[in-house]
Amino acid sequence: MFNIILFGPPGSGKGTQSEKLIAAYGLKHLSTGDLLRSEIAAQTPLGLEAKSIMDKGQLVPDEVVVGMISSALDQNPQAKGFLFDGFPRTEAQSVALDKLLKLKNTEIGVVLALDVSEEELVSRLLNRGKTSGRSDDTNESVIRARIAEYKAKTTVVANYYSTFDKVVHIKGEGSVDEIFESLRSEIDKRMS
Ligand code: AP5
Repeated sequence: MFNIILFGPPGSGKGTQSEKLIAAYGLKHLSTGDLLRSEIAAQTPLGLEAKSIMDKGQLVPDEVVVGMISSALDQNPQAKGFLFDGFPRTEAQSVALDKLLKLKNTEIGVVLALDVSEEELVSRLLNRGKTSGRSDDTNESVIRARIAEYKAKTTVVANYYSTFDKVVHIKGEGSVDEIFESLRSEIDKRMS
């Protein structure tokens, strides 16, 4: 089993590259943002609570997302590996993920961190907001709050995995295909 964390700020291309990576490697894609948006669409109590937090650009509580990931791991015993997108986002989530994977006799193989400038992130997300229907993309102050939340709480995740020598930085600007090739070359080095 080979497990990957695709890491980076909001708008860095995690979702875009995840689609290509799962097609290339047959991994199970686990995006906490997508899982939360499914709860919102189904109007569950969890979804309603999460929506008000997401609309402010803040992170939902660790126990909520860790619970969702734990269930998803249990529901996919045959997976060849997992691609985590938007998770973990705090050090507590990272520690919880490592424990969950250890219970399954596996671990994170690599953390691929997409580096993109803040102005490019804002521009991409405002552009996506014109058509995505995502309420957290529609105004610049919420987008900047998401980036601030990332800097305050999520950048530490890269430091955490750096101590295990698992982080590789990838230039996240350029064409989607160029970035995909950079990701692929790092994965292939570690899978072989
Ligand atoms: P989440 O859904 O994870 O959103 P995000 O991290 O804010 O990331 P995005 O989906 O906005 O961006 P992305 O990096 O996937 O980029 P994409 O490929 O879409 O989280 C949403 C919210 O849920 C959080 O704010 C939080 O409240 C909550 N949440 C989720 N997980 C959580 C957790 N673990 N803990 C707590 N709370 C959590 O690309 C963006 C745009 O750029 C697209 O339009 C795309 O077409 C374009 N683009 C992509 N690549 C390129 C390129 N190379 N050049 C030009 N444009 C590009």
